Amino acid sequence: MEKLEAASRIWGILVICVCSILTWPGTACSAGTGPAKASEKSTASASDYSKKGADTCLSCHNGERMQHIFRTAHGQGADPNAPFAYLQCESCHGPGSAHTGRQDVGAGHTPIIDFGRDAATPVEAQNAVCMKCHTRDVGLQWAGSAHQNGQVSCADCHDLHAKVDAVSVLTEQADVCYECHMKERADNLKPYAHPVRQGIMTCTACHNPHHSTGDALLNRNTVNELCWSCHTELRGPYLFEHPPVSEDCLLCHEAHGSIQPAMLTQRPPLLCQSCHSQRGHPSVSFTKNGLAGNNPSAFVVNGSCVNCHSQIHGSNHPSGAKLMR
Ligand code: HEC
Ligand code: HEC
Ligand code: HEC
Ligand code: HEC
Ligand code: HEC
Ligand code: HEC
Ligand code: HEC
Ligand code: HEC
Ligand code: HEC
Ligand code: HEC
Repeated sequence: MEKLEAASRIWGILVICVCSILTWPGTACSAGTGPAKASEKSTASASDYSKKGADTCLSCHNGERMQHIFRTAHGQGADPNAPFAYLQCESCHGPGSAHTGRQDVGAGHTPIIDFGRDAATPVEAQNAVCMKCHTRDVGLQWAGSAHQNGQVSCADCHDLHAKVDAVSVLTEQADVCYECHMKERADNLKPYAHPVRQGIMTCTACHNPHHSTGDALLNRNTVNELCWSCHTELRGPYLFEHPPVSEDCLLCHEAHGSIQPAMLTQRPPLLCQSCHSQRGHPSVSFTKNGLAGNNPSAFVVNGSCVNCHSQIHGSNHPSGAKLMR
């Protein structure tokens, strides 16, 4: 019994010693009371960590890329919540004493927590490291979101060893997403598209990458609420509504891009005829002979439907019932 107590006292002293070594380059280890420290302490003992913190790591991993982290939020030892106020590199990569210690010839290096799609560390374990500190801003709703379900790791989108994280840059974000979302890339290269490839808009203008209360990670509850947030002139209310417009813009439009002008899903008259019959006036389309077979019509001669029904999103004109003015 007494022996055990003595042993634990020695351990306590040891922890304090290692802790003070770890405080390089000078931040107070004991001042750290944040979430990272608390949970790290419970899962590993101090001797599992390398002796000189980042210095040990940087003695081998000394490429230029490794220095960049000191320019980012994570590299700021003065921020009491940042990894560099705690265990430095090992706040994220986990205890590294085995990895940094002597290795048997030919045995290769003892692995350490690594991040990204190709890493040996399971995605859940990777993300748990980040969520030690990021439950508040990323949100508990990350659990159950499309990306969490799809086994996407935080590091698939975030590059923490870069000077600037590409996913947060207006002109570079889409390329990060395109690595996995090829269809949206193809759509965005079509002639009529939201100006993402021009670097005017990002994916996160419409999507929230971490979680959402709407479908498809949209940053609004419904598609129309989203579209109206920028295309405010189409919100109405109209004296004469065109019902599909108030229902869902995507009944006629693609969200990312299309080969039809105005990103339509198909061109009028086919678009209109997918819902409207010929009742009222013939709504047949052109044939190669000009007019349709037995059905000559002034309506058709005048070209496609929106030449006359130009107020396709709704009309406020007293005689705009047929969406013509
Ligand atoms: C004695 C030299 C040495 C030290 C010290 C060292 N590493 Fe490594 N590290 C290596 C080698 C060698 C590899 C394997 C590289 C490879 O396979 O290309 C590696 C690989 C890695 C990897 C990639 C994942 C893996 O397990 O292969 C990470 C992440 C890493 N080290 C982080 C660290 C951290 C953090 C520290 C400090 C705690 C550290 N290293 C200290 C030599 C070292
Ligand atoms: C905030 C968490 C975090 C901290 C702190 C951190 N890393 Fe990393 N590290 C990552 C992530 C995430 C990756 C995967 C590559 C990426 O997306 O940034 C990574 C990748 C690596 C790799 C693999 C090679 C590479 O270039 O991607 C090495 C080696 C490495 N880190 C070493 C270090 C060293 C040394 C330190 C301390 C100076 C450190 N890391 C601090 C999160 C961190
Ligand atoms: C020890 C705590 C800690 C860990 C672990 C941690 N972070 Fe952070 N992270 C921070 C702090 C503190 C900031 C600065 C936040 C602020 O100022 O609001 C930050 C900022 C960020 C930012 C925003 C960067 C910026 O410039 O604003 C991203 C993105 C981020 N972290 C991603 C990650 C990812 C991904 C991981 C896991 C690989 C991770 N973090 C692990 C503490 C941590
Ligand atoms: C699908 C890509 C993607 C994934 C996966 C992802 N993020 Fe992000 N994250 C982003 C983008 C994009 C932003 C920038 C949002 C903006 O600027 O509009 C961001 C912003 C952040 C920020 C800055 C604060 C904020 O909320 O804006 C933090 C911190 C962060 N992410 C942490 C994480 C963590 C932790 C994980 C894993 C649990 C994670 N991210 C997973 C794309 C992603
Ligand atoms: C103008 C707003 C907008 C922009 C910008 C945008 N999206 Fe979307 N995205 C949407 C809408 C709306 C949907 C469809 C929601 C639905 O069908 O209910 C969607 C759906 C998706 C889906 C799900 C597709 C499916 O078949 O379920 C993915 C993946 C996606 N977007 C990725 C991206 C990526 C990557 C970018 C950046 C290159 C991007 N989006 C830019 C509005 C946008
Ligand atoms: C590492 C691959 C990867 C990256 C990078 C990535 N995603 Fe995803 N994304 C997925 C997976 C996997 C899903 C799950 C649905 C699926 O299987 O398509 C998904 C789903 C989505 C959805 C649809 C959600 C739904 O409910 O249908 C949207 C929207 C989306 N991602 C947007 C983005 C945006 C925006 C970015 C860049 C900031 C991005 N993704 C980066 C892999 C990725
Ligand atoms: C974040 C703001 C924003 C959101 C949200 C948004 N748009 Fe746009 N939209 C734009 C911008 C910017 C343009 C380009 C205008 C220009 O080129 O003059 C545009 C252009 C368009 C065009 C015309 C394209 C062309 O080739 O003429 C259509 C159609 C369109 N958006 C439909 C939608 C639909 C449908 C939604 C909802 C799914 C939506 N927009 C959501 C900003 C937005
Ligand atoms: C019934 C089909 C239909 C629906 C539903 C629809 N639109 Fe359109 N939209 C069109 C047509 C057709 C055009 C092309 C008009 C033209 O060629 O003059 C167009 C053009 C546009 C344009 C290009 C600029 C302009 O005004 O000509 C924008 C932006 C637009 N729509 C946004 C929206 C938004 C936002 C919604 C949902 C609130 C929506 N549309 C719903 C059929 C529709
Ligand atoms: C998704 C189905 C759908 C599409 C596509 C569609 N409409 Fe409609 N449209 C309707 C519905 C539903 C009504 C309301 C019918 C009613 O009140 O009897 C309507 C009403 C109208 C009216 C007013 C009719 C009246 O009796 O007052 C006109 C004109 C019209 N649409 C023209 C068009 C044109 C032109 C297009 C193609 C650009 C088009 N519509 C595409 C569903 C659609
Ligand atoms: C030359 C102009 C013109 C063209 C082109 C045209 N319309 Fe019309 N449309 C009208 C007029 C005028 C009315 C009103 C007729 C009335 O009140 O009897 C009308 C009425 C309608 C109505 C209401 C039905 C009803 O019984 O009043 C619908 C639906 C409609 N058009 C759809 C279409 C579609 C779909 C197309 C394309 C295939 C189209 N229109 C092309 C002028 C046109």
